[in-house]
Amino acid sequence: MVSKGPATADFQELKARFEAQGQGHVFAFWEQLDPSGQERLGRQLASLDLEGLIRGFQATRSHASGTPSLEPPEVVALPEHGGDAKHWAEAEAAGESLLRDGRAAVMVVAGGQASRLGYPGPKGLYPLGPASGRTLFALQAQKLLHLRARTGAAIPWYVMTSPATDAATRDGFAAEGFFGVPERDVFFLCQGMVPSFDFDGKLMLEKPDRVFENPDGHGGSLTALLDSGALDDMERRGISTIFYYQVDNPMLPLGDPVFLGHHARARAEMSCKMLRKREPGEKMGVLARVDGAMGVVEYTEINDEQRNARDAQGELLYGAGNVAVHALEVSFVRRIASDAERWLPFHASAKKIPQADAKGATQTPAAENGFKLERFVFDALPAAKDVCVVEAPRSEYSPVKNASGGESPETSRRDLSQRYRGWLEAAGLPAPAGNGWVEIDESKIGSPEDLRALGLERIEDAPDLIQLRVGDDA
Ligand code: UD1
Repeated sequence: MVSKGPATADFQELKARFEAQGQGHVFAFWEQLDPSGQERLGRQLASLDLEGLIRGFQATRSHASGTPSLEPPEVVALPEHGGDAKHWAEAEAAGESLLRDGRAAVMVVAGGQASRLGYPGPKGLYPLGPASGRTLFALQAQKLLHLRARTGAAIPWYVMTSPATDAATRDGFAAEGFFGVPERDVFFLCQGMVPSFDFDGKLMLEKPDRVFENPDGHGGSLTALLDSGALDDMERRGISTIFYYQVDNPMLPLGDPVFLGHHARARAEMSCKMLRKREPGEKMGVLARVDGAMGVVEYTEINDEQRNARDAQGELLYGAGNVAVHALEVSFVRRIASDAERWLPFHASAKKIPQADAKGATQTPAAENGFKLERFVFDALPAAKDVCVVEAPRSEYSPVKNASGGESPETSRRDLSQRYRGWLEAAGLPAPAGNGWVEIDESKIGSPEDLRALGLERIEDAPDLIQLRVGDDA
Protein backbone atom coordinates (compact mmCIF):
# COMPACT_ATOMS: atom_id res chain seq x y z
CA MET A 1 0.00 0.00 0.00
CA VAL A 2 1.34 3.44 -0.83
CA SER A 3 0.82 5.75 2.11
CA LYS A 4 -0.27 9.27 1.47
CA GLY A 5 1.10 12.40 3.04
CA PRO A 6 -1.12 14.25 5.47
CA ALA A 7 -4.02 16.09 3.87
CA THR A 8 -3.01 19.58 2.79
CA ALA A 9 -5.37 21.35 5.18
CA ASP A 10 -4.03 19.30 8.13
CA PHE A 11 -0.48 20.01 7.06
CA GLN A 12 -1.07 23.76 6.87
CA GLU A 13 -2.55 23.73 10.35
CA LEU A 14 0.31 21.66 11.75
CA LYS A 15 2.87 23.92 10.12
CA ALA A 16 1.19 27.05 11.46
CA ARG A 17 1.17 25.53 14.97
CA PHE A 18 4.89 24.76 14.88
CA GLU A 19 5.78 28.11 13.31
CA ALA A 20 3.81 29.96 15.97
CA GLN A 21 6.07 28.32 18.57
CA GLY A 22 9.27 29.13 16.67
CA GLN A 23 9.66 25.48 15.58
CA GLY A 24 8.97 25.79 11.85
CA HIS A 25 12.46 24.38 11.05
CA VAL A 26 11.16 20.85 11.63
CA PHE A 27 9.72 21.10 8.10
CA ALA A 28 13.16 21.92 6.61
CA PHE A 29 13.16 18.74 4.47
CA TRP A 30 9.41 18.53 3.88
CA GLU A 31 9.52 19.20 0.15
CA GLN A 32 12.14 16.49 -0.34
CA LEU A 33 10.24 13.83 1.57
CA ASP A 34 8.18 11.24 -0.26
CA PRO A 35 4.55 10.87 0.85
CA SER A 36 5.38 8.14 3.36
CA GLY A 37 8.14 10.30 4.90
CA GLN A 38 5.73 13.23 5.13
CA GLU A 39 3.19 10.92 6.72
CA ARG A 40 5.72 9.71 9.30
CA LEU A 41 6.90 13.17 10.26
CA GLY A 42 3.37 14.58 10.19
CA ARG A 43 2.14 11.82 12.50
CA GLN A 44 5.03 12.30 14.94
CA LEU A 45 4.60 16.07 15.07
CA ALA A 46 0.82 15.85 15.45
CA SER A 47 1.30 13.52 18.44
CA LEU A 48 3.42 16.05 20.35
CA ASP A 49 1.90 18.27 23.00
CA LEU A 50 4.07 21.08 21.67
CA GLU A 51 2.93 23.86 23.97
CA GLY A 52 3.26 21.65 27.09
CA LEU A 53 6.70 20.48 25.99
CA ILE A 54 7.97 23.99 25.45
CA ARG A 55 6.63 25.03 28.84
CA GLY A 56 8.29 21.99 30.39
CA PHE A 57 11.61 22.68 28.68
CA GLN A 58 11.57 26.37 29.59
CA ALA A 59 10.95 25.45 33.22
CA THR A 60 14.18 23.40 33.21
CA ARG A 61 16.06 26.50 32.09
CA SER A 62 14.61 28.77 34.73
CA HIS A 63 15.25 26.40 37.68
CA ALA A 64 17.49 28.03 40.22
CA SER A 65 20.87 26.38 39.80
CA GLY A 66 23.22 26.18 42.73
CA THR A 67 23.42 23.91 45.72
CA PRO A 68 20.09 22.87 47.27
CA SER A 69 19.57 23.23 50.99
CA LEU A 70 19.38 19.77 52.57
CA GLU A 71 18.09 18.18 55.74
CA PRO A 72 18.41 14.48 56.53
CA PRO A 73 15.12 12.56 56.18
CA GLU A 74 13.41 10.73 59.00
CA VAL A 75 14.28 7.07 58.56
CA VAL A 76 12.81 3.85 59.99
CA ALA A 77 16.15 2.39 61.06
CA LEU A 78 16.95 -1.32 60.96
CA PRO A 79 16.80 -3.00 64.38
CA GLU A 80 20.58 -3.55 64.21
CA HIS A 81 20.94 0.22 63.81
CA GLY A 82 18.72 1.11 66.75
CA GLY A 83 15.28 0.60 65.20
CA ASP A 84 12.45 -0.90 67.27
CA ALA A 85 12.41 -4.67 66.61
CA LYS A 86 8.74 -4.92 67.61
CA HIS A 87 7.85 -2.23 65.09
CA TRP A 88 9.65 -4.24 62.39
CA ALA A 89 7.85 -7.46 63.36
CA GLU A 90 4.50 -5.66 63.19
CA ALA A 91 5.42 -4.22 59.81
CA GLU A 92 6.27 -7.67 58.50
CA ALA A 93 2.88 -9.00 59.61
CA ALA A 94 1.09 -6.05 57.99
CA GLY A 95 3.02 -6.53 54.74
CA GLU A 96 2.28 -10.25 54.73
CA SER A 97 -1.43 -9.64 55.01
CA LEU A 98 -1.33 -7.02 52.24
CA LEU A 99 0.32 -9.61 50.01
CA ARG A 100 -1.94 -12.50 51.05
CA ASP A 101 -5.03 -10.37 50.48
CA GLY A 102 -3.88 -9.83 46.89
CA ARG A 103 -3.59 -6.09 47.33
CA ALA A 104 0.02 -5.71 46.13
CA ALA A 105 1.56 -5.82 42.65
CA VAL A 106 5.19 -5.65 41.63
CA MET A 107 6.43 -3.35 38.89
CA VAL A 108 9.83 -3.20 37.23
CA VAL A 109 11.08 -0.20 35.27
CA ALA A 110 13.06 -1.62 32.40
CA GLY A 111 12.95 1.03 29.72
CA GLY A 112 16.58 2.15 30.01
CA GLN A 113 18.96 1.50 27.16
CA ALA A 114 21.79 -0.07 29.20
CA SER A 115 24.28 2.27 27.54
CA ARG A 116 26.75 2.22 30.46
CA LEU A 117 26.62 -1.58 30.53
CA GLY A 118 27.14 -1.62 26.79
CA TYR A 119 24.71 -4.52 26.34
CA PRO A 120 22.88 -4.44 23.02
CA GLY A 121 19.53 -5.78 24.31
CA PRO A 122 17.28 -4.84 27.21
CA LYS A 123 19.19 -5.05 30.50
CA GLY A 124 16.59 -7.44 31.90
CA LEU A 125 17.76 -10.04 29.38
CA TYR A 126 21.38 -9.82 30.54
CA PRO A 127 22.56 -13.30 31.61
CA LEU A 128 23.57 -12.79 35.23
CA GLY A 129 22.90 -16.09 37.03
CA PRO A 130 26.26 -17.15 38.54
CA ALA A 131 25.96 -20.80 37.51
CA SER A 132 22.98 -20.95 35.17
CA GLY A 133 23.37 -17.72 33.20
CA ARG A 134 19.73 -16.93 33.97
CA THR A 135 18.75 -13.44 32.92
CA LEU A 136 17.95 -10.63 35.34
CA PHE A 137 14.26 -11.02 34.44
CA ALA A 138 14.43 -14.78 35.07
CA LEU A 139 16.00 -14.19 38.49
CA GLN A 140 13.22 -11.73 39.34
CA ALA A 141 10.58 -14.17 38.09
CA GLN A 142 11.92 -16.83 40.45
CA LYS A 143 11.45 -14.51 43.41
CA LEU A 144 7.97 -13.61 42.23
CA LEU A 145 7.03 -17.29 41.86
CA HIS A 146 8.22 -17.91 45.39
CA LEU A 147 6.27 -14.94 46.72
CA ARG A 148 3.11 -16.09 44.91
CA ALA A 149 3.48 -19.62 46.24
CA ARG A 150 4.21 -18.47 49.77
CA THR A 151 1.31 -16.03 49.98
CA GLY A 152 -1.15 -17.91 47.80
CA ALA A 153 -1.91 -14.66 45.95
CA ALA A 154 -1.76 -14.20 42.17
CA ILE A 155 0.58 -11.21 42.52
CA PRO A 156 0.78 -9.60 39.07
CA TRP A 157 3.96 -8.32 37.45
CA TYR A 158 3.89 -5.00 35.58
CA VAL A 159 6.87 -4.66 33.25
CA MET A 160 7.61 -1.20 31.95
CA THR A 161 9.52 -1.09 28.68
CA SER A 162 10.33 1.76 26.29
CA PRO A 163 10.02 1.82 22.52
CA ALA A 164 13.73 0.86 22.51
CA THR A 165 13.25 -2.26 24.65
CA ASP A 166 9.60 -3.22 24.17
CA ALA A 167 9.71 -5.76 21.33
CA ALA A 168 12.87 -7.47 22.56
CA THR A 169 11.51 -7.68 26.11
CA ARG A 170 8.21 -9.20 25.00
CA ASP A 171 10.08 -11.65 22.75
CA GLY A 172 12.39 -12.55 25.64
CA PHE A 173 9.44 -13.28 27.92
CA ALA A 174 7.63 -15.28 25.25
CA ALA A 175 10.74 -17.32 24.40
CA GLU A 176 11.10 -18.36 28.05
CA GLY A 177 7.41 -19.09 28.66
CA PHE A 178 7.11 -15.94 30.78
CA PHE A 179 9.67 -17.56 33.11
CA GLY A 180 6.90 -19.68 34.57
CA VAL A 181 4.68 -16.77 35.63
CA PRO A 182 1.18 -17.16 34.12
CA GLU A 183 0.94 -14.88 31.10
CA ARG A 184 -2.36 -13.44 32.34
CA ASP A 185 -0.49 -12.01 35.34
CA VAL A 186 2.18 -10.22 33.31
CA PHE A 187 1.25 -6.78 32.01
CA PHE A 188 3.63 -4.93 29.69
CA LEU A 189 3.42 -1.18 29.49
CA CYS A 190 5.58 0.98 27.28
CA GLN A 191 6.77 4.36 28.49
CA GLY A 192 6.51 7.49 26.38
CA MET A 193 9.17 9.38 24.47
CA VAL A 194 10.11 13.03 24.70
CA PRO A 195 11.94 15.20 22.16
CA SER A 196 15.24 16.91 22.88
CA PHE A 197 15.94 20.62 22.42
CA ASP A 198 19.13 22.24 21.17
CA PHE A 199 20.82 25.00 23.15
CA ASP A 200 18.58 27.57 21.43
CA GLY A 201 15.42 25.76 22.49
CA LYS A 202 14.73 24.23 19.07
CA LEU A 203 13.51 20.69 18.45
CA MET A 204 16.16 18.60 16.73
CA LEU A 205 15.70 16.66 13.48
CA GLU A 206 17.46 13.33 13.76
CA LYS A 207 16.53 12.52 10.16
CA PRO A 208 14.64 14.53 7.54
CA ASP A 209 11.44 12.77 8.62
CA ARG A 210 12.01 12.40 12.36
CA VAL A 211 12.44 14.62 15.39
CA PHE A 212 14.89 13.11 17.90
CA GLU A 213 13.20 11.62 20.98
CA ASN A 214 14.36 9.59 23.99
CA PRO A 215 12.45 7.62 26.66
CA ASP A 216 10.85 10.02 29.12
CA GLY A 217 12.72 8.76 32.20
CA HIS A 218 11.54 6.44 34.98
CA GLY A 219 9.12 9.19 36.03
CA GLY A 220 7.37 8.26 32.78
CA SER A 221 6.35 5.04 34.52
CA LEU A 222 3.63 6.93 36.38
CA THR A 223 2.06 8.36 33.22
CA ALA A 224 2.54 5.02 31.43
CA LEU A 225 0.64 3.27 34.23
CA LEU A 226 -2.29 5.58 33.58
CA ASP A 227 -2.12 5.72 29.78
CA SER A 228 -1.68 1.96 29.29
CA GLY A 229 -4.71 1.05 31.37
CA ALA A 230 -2.47 -0.66 33.96
CA LEU A 231 -4.04 1.36 36.79
CA ASP A 232 -7.49 0.22 35.65
CA ASP A 233 -6.21 -3.33 35.52
CA MET A 234 -4.86 -2.98 39.06
CA GLU A 235 -8.15 -1.63 40.33
CA ARG A 236 -10.04 -4.52 38.71
CA ARG A 237 -7.74 -6.90 40.54
CA GLY A 238 -8.19 -5.11 43.86
CA ILE A 239 -4.58 -3.90 44.01
CA SER A 240 -3.95 -0.92 46.28
CA THR A 241 -0.15 -0.82 46.43
CA ILE A 242 2.65 -1.11 43.87
CA PHE A 243 6.09 -2.42 44.79
CA TYR A 244 8.27 -0.47 42.31
CA TYR A 245 11.85 -1.52 41.53
CA GLN A 246 14.64 -1.17 38.95
CA VAL A 247 15.69 -3.92 36.62
CA ASP A 248 19.35 -3.92 37.63
CA ASN A 249 19.60 -5.27 41.20
CA PRO A 250 19.38 -9.08 41.59
CA MET A 251 19.92 -8.89 45.37
CA LEU A 252 16.59 -7.18 45.99
CA PRO A 253 13.90 -8.96 48.03
CA LEU A 254 11.05 -8.64 45.55
CA GLY A 255 7.76 -7.57 47.12
CA ASP A 256 9.51 -7.28 50.50
CA PRO A 257 6.69 -7.65 53.10
CA VAL A 258 8.52 -5.61 55.74
CA PHE A 259 8.87 -2.62 53.47
CA LEU A 260 5.26 -2.88 52.28
CA GLY A 261 4.16 -3.20 55.90
CA HIS A 262 6.02 -0.08 57.05
CA HIS A 263 4.45 1.78 54.13
CA ALA A 264 0.95 0.55 54.97
CA ARG A 265 1.23 1.20 58.71
CA ALA A 266 2.49 4.73 58.08
CA ARG A 267 -0.49 5.25 55.72
CA ALA A 268 2.04 6.63 53.28
CA GLU A 269 1.18 7.34 49.67
CA MET A 270 4.76 6.80 48.52
CA SER A 271 7.64 5.15 50.38
CA CYS A 272 11.33 4.69 49.72
CA LYS A 273 14.01 2.23 50.67
CA MET A 274 17.33 3.72 51.66
CA LEU A 275 20.67 2.31 52.65
CA ARG A 276 23.62 3.89 54.37
CA LYS A 277 26.16 5.02 51.83
CA ARG A 278 29.54 3.39 52.38
CA GLU A 279 31.53 6.49 51.65
CA PRO A 280 30.80 10.03 50.55
CA GLY A 281 31.80 9.36 46.94
CA GLU A 282 29.50 6.34 46.43
CA LYS A 283 27.53 7.01 43.28
CA MET A 284 24.00 6.95 44.59
CA GLY A 285 21.30 9.56 44.80
CA VAL A 286 20.61 10.76 48.33
CA LEU A 287 17.18 10.89 49.96
CA ALA A 288 16.78 14.13 51.84
CA ARG A 289 14.54 17.06 52.48
CA VAL A 290 15.56 19.22 49.55
CA ASP A 291 14.71 22.88 50.00
CA GLY A 292 12.09 21.72 52.49
CA ALA A 293 10.40 18.94 50.46
CA MET A 294 11.19 15.21 50.38
CA GLY A 295 13.26 14.36 47.37
CA VAL A 296 16.38 12.82 45.92
CA VAL A 297 19.51 14.70 44.96
CA GLU A 298 22.05 13.06 42.74
CA TYR A 299 25.55 12.83 44.18
CA THR A 300 26.69 15.24 41.47
CA GLU A 301 24.24 17.88 42.65
CA ILE A 302 25.57 18.35 46.18
CA ASN A 303 28.74 20.17 47.11
CA ASP A 304 31.79 18.63 48.81
CA GLU A 305 30.89 20.06 52.18
CA GLN A 306 27.45 18.43 52.08
CA ARG A 307 28.82 15.20 50.68
CA ASN A 308 31.36 14.83 53.48
CA ALA A 309 29.31 16.26 56.37
CA ARG A 310 28.93 13.92 59.35
CA ASP A 311 26.66 13.90 62.38
CA ALA A 312 27.69 13.64 66.04
CA GLN A 313 27.92 9.83 65.73
CA GLY A 314 30.24 10.14 62.76
CA GLU A 315 27.61 8.95 60.25
CA LEU A 316 27.30 10.73 56.92
CA LEU A 317 24.70 13.45 57.40
CA TYR A 318 23.45 13.07 53.83
CA GLY A 319 24.15 9.38 53.52
CA ALA A 320 20.63 8.03 52.88
CA GLY A 321 21.37 6.29 49.59
CA ASN A 322 18.40 5.94 47.26
CA VAL A 323 17.94 2.26 46.38
CA ALA A 324 15.20 3.28 43.92
CA VAL A 325 12.65 0.93 45.45
CA HIS A 326 9.29 2.47 46.20
CA ALA A 327 5.85 1.56 47.44
CA LEU A 328 3.18 3.58 45.67
CA GLU A 329 -0.54 3.74 46.28
CA VAL A 330 -2.53 3.18 43.10
CA SER A 331 -4.79 6.16 43.90
CA PHE A 332 -1.70 8.33 44.36
CA VAL A 333 -0.24 7.31 41.00
CA ARG A 334 -3.55 8.17 39.34
CA ARG A 335 -3.54 11.61 40.95
CA ILE A 336 0.04 12.37 39.93
CA ALA A 337 -0.21 10.98 36.41
CA SER A 338 -3.42 12.90 35.76
CA ASP A 339 -1.56 16.14 36.45
CA ALA A 340 1.91 15.21 35.28
CA GLU A 341 2.93 18.66 34.10
CA ARG A 342 2.48 19.91 37.64
CA TRP A 343 4.05 17.04 39.57
CA LEU A 344 6.62 15.56 37.24
CA PRO A 345 8.81 18.36 35.91
CA PHE A 346 11.36 17.58 33.22
CA HIS A 347 15.06 17.49 34.03
CA ALA A 348 17.43 18.49 31.25
CA SER A 349 20.90 17.08 30.73
CA ALA A 350 23.28 18.14 27.99
CA LYS A 351 24.06 15.25 25.61
CA LYS A 352 25.48 14.50 22.20
CA ILE A 353 22.35 14.17 20.14
CA PRO A 354 22.37 12.74 16.61
CA GLN A 355 21.20 15.35 14.18
CA ALA A 356 20.58 15.61 10.43
CA ASP A 357 23.10 17.84 8.62
CA ALA A 358 22.19 20.21 5.77
CA LYS A 359 22.05 17.24 3.38
CA GLY A 360 19.84 15.24 5.71
CA ALA A 361 22.54 12.75 6.79
CA THR A 362 22.52 11.91 10.53
CA GLN A 363 25.66 13.03 12.36
CA THR A 364 26.57 12.35 15.98
CA PRO A 365 28.48 15.40 17.20
CA ALA A 366 31.78 15.32 19.08
CA ALA A 367 30.46 17.65 21.76
CA GLU A 368 27.13 18.10 23.52
CA ASN A 369 24.69 19.88 21.27
CA GLY A 370 21.39 19.77 23.13
CA PHE A 371 19.35 18.74 26.13
CA LYS A 372 17.68 15.41 26.68
CA LEU A 373 14.64 15.64 28.90
CA GLU A 374 13.58 13.08 31.51
CA ARG A 375 11.13 12.73 34.34
CA PHE A 376 12.12 11.14 37.66
CA VAL A 377 9.78 9.02 39.74
CA PHE A 378 11.03 10.53 42.99
CA ASP A 379 9.77 13.95 41.94
CA ALA A 380 6.35 12.67 43.02
CA LEU A 381 7.51 12.55 46.66
CA PRO A 382 6.51 16.12 47.64
CA ALA A 383 2.98 15.40 46.41
CA ALA A 384 2.56 12.40 48.72
CA LYS A 385 0.52 12.93 51.88
CA ASP A 386 2.95 10.79 53.81
CA VAL A 387 6.31 9.35 52.87
CA CYS A 388 7.94 6.53 54.79
CA VAL A 389 11.70 6.03 54.35
CA VAL A 390 12.79 2.56 55.40
CA GLU A 391 16.36 1.40 55.87
CA ALA A 392 17.53 -1.63 53.92
CA PRO A 393 20.59 -3.75 54.70
CA ARG A 394 23.56 -3.18 52.40
CA SER A 395 23.37 -6.85 51.40
CA GLU A 396 20.22 -6.03 49.39
CA TYR A 397 22.08 -3.92 46.91
CA SER A 398 24.52 -4.92 44.19
CA PRO A 399 23.29 -3.49 40.91
CA VAL A 400 24.53 -4.04 37.39
CA LYS A 401 25.30 -0.60 36.01
CA ASN A 402 28.72 -0.65 34.34
CA ALA A 403 30.47 -3.00 31.93
CA SER A 404 33.38 -3.55 34.32
CA GLY A 405 34.76 -2.41 37.67
CA GLY A 406 32.29 -1.57 40.44
CA GLU A 407 28.56 -2.19 40.04
CA SER A 408 29.20 -4.46 37.06
CA PRO A 409 28.05 -8.00 36.16
CA GLU A 410 31.25 -9.25 37.79
CA THR A 411 30.56 -7.69 41.21
CA SER A 412 26.84 -8.38 41.15
CA ARG A 413 27.28 -12.03 40.18
CA ARG A 414 29.96 -12.48 42.83
CA ASP A 415 27.71 -11.00 45.53
CA LEU A 416 24.84 -13.24 44.47
CA SER A 417 27.03 -16.34 44.54
CA GLN A 418 28.42 -15.33 47.96
CA ARG A 419 24.89 -14.99 49.29
CA TYR A 420 24.02 -18.50 48.13
CA ARG A 421 27.23 -19.86 49.65
CA GLY A 422 26.15 -18.24 52.91
CA TRP A 423 22.76 -19.97 52.65
CA LEU A 424 24.42 -23.35 52.12
CA GLU A 425 26.63 -22.84 55.14
CA ALA A 426 23.74 -21.61 57.29
CA ALA A 427 21.79 -24.73 56.30
CA GLY A 428 24.71 -26.93 57.33
CA LEU A 429 25.59 -27.91 53.78
CA PRO A 430 29.26 -27.59 53.00
CA ALA A 431 29.75 -25.16 50.13
CA PRO A 432 32.15 -26.38 47.48
CA ALA A 433 35.74 -25.58 48.34
CA GLY A 434 37.87 -23.28 46.25
CA ASN A 435 36.70 -21.27 43.33
CA GLY A 436 33.28 -21.95 42.03
CA TRP A 437 29.97 -20.29 41.53
CA VAL A 438 26.85 -21.20 43.46
CA GLU A 439 23.28 -20.52 42.40
CA ILE A 440 20.07 -21.47 44.17
CA ASP A 441 16.67 -21.60 42.50
CA GLU A 442 14.78 -18.86 44.32
CA SER A 443 11.43 -19.97 42.97
CA LYS A 444 11.66 -22.85 45.47
CA ILE A 445 14.15 -21.64 48.05
CA GLY A 446 13.98 -18.11 49.40
CA SER A 447 16.12 -18.44 52.54
CA PRO A 448 18.50 -20.75 54.41
CA GLU A 449 15.45 -22.00 56.35
CA ASP A 450 13.78 -23.19 53.12
CA LEU A 451 17.01 -24.94 52.28
CA ARG A 452 17.25 -26.62 55.68
CA ALA A 453 13.65 -27.77 55.38
CA LEU A 454 14.62 -29.86 52.34
CA GLY A 455 16.68 -32.06 54.67
CA LEU A 456 19.42 -32.55 52.09
CA GLU A 457 22.58 -34.35 53.04
CA ARG A 458 24.60 -33.34 50.03
CA ILE A 459 24.33 -30.49 47.57
CA GLU A 460 24.51 -32.96 44.70
CA ASP A 461 21.16 -34.44 45.79
CA ALA A 462 19.26 -31.42 44.46
CA PRO A 463 20.95 -30.52 41.16
CA ASP A 464 17.81 -28.79 39.89
CA LEU A 465 17.70 -26.46 42.91
CA ILE A 466 21.38 -25.86 43.61
CA GLN A 467 23.64 -25.31 40.65
CA LEU A 468 27.39 -25.15 40.81
CA ARG A 469 29.80 -23.95 38.19
CA VAL A 470 33.51 -24.34 38.50
CA GLY A 471 35.43 -21.31 37.43
CA ASP A 472 38.38 -19.18 38.40
CA ASP A 473 36.35 -16.10 37.78
CA ALA A 474 34.40 -16.69 41.00
C1 UD1 B 1 19.32 5.59 39.75
C2 UD1 B 1 18.94 6.80 40.60
C3 UD1 B 1 19.82 6.96 41.82
C4 UD1 B 1 19.87 5.67 42.61
C5 UD1 B 1 20.25 4.50 41.72
C6 UD1 B 1 20.09 3.20 42.47
C7 UD1 B 1 18.14 8.47 39.00
C8 UD1 B 1 18.33 9.77 38.33
N1 UD1 B 1 19.08 8.03 39.79
O1 UD1 B 1 20.52 5.91 39.12
O2 UD1 B 1 19.32 8.00 42.65
O3 UD1 B 1 20.77 5.80 43.69
O4 UD1 B 1 19.42 4.44 40.57
O5 UD1 B 1 20.37 2.10 41.67
O6 UD1 B 1 17.14 7.84 38.85
N2 UD1 B 1 14.64 3.59 33.29
C9 UD1 B 1 13.52 3.46 32.53
N3 UD1 B 1 13.23 4.42 31.64
C10 UD1 B 1 14.01 5.51 31.45
C11 UD1 B 1 15.18 5.65 32.24
C12 UD1 B 1 15.47 4.67 33.14
O7 UD1 B 1 12.78 2.47 32.67
O8 UD1 B 1 13.66 6.37 30.62
C13 UD1 B 1 14.95 2.54 34.28
C14 UD1 B 1 16.16 1.71 33.90
O9 UD1 B 1 15.80 0.65 33.04
C15 UD1 B 1 16.62 1.25 35.26
C16 UD1 B 1 16.26 2.42 36.16
O10 UD1 B 1 15.27 3.14 35.50
O11 UD1 B 1 15.91 0.12 35.71
C17 UD1 B 1 17.45 3.30 36.57
O12 UD1 B 1 17.91 4.00 35.52
P1 UD1 B 1 19.39 4.57 35.44
O13 UD1 B 1 19.41 5.63 34.43
O14 UD1 B 1 20.34 3.43 35.23
O15 UD1 B 1 19.61 5.23 36.87
P2 UD1 B 1 20.95 5.34 37.69
O16 UD1 B 1 21.84 6.35 37.09
O17 UD1 B 1 21.51 4.00 37.86
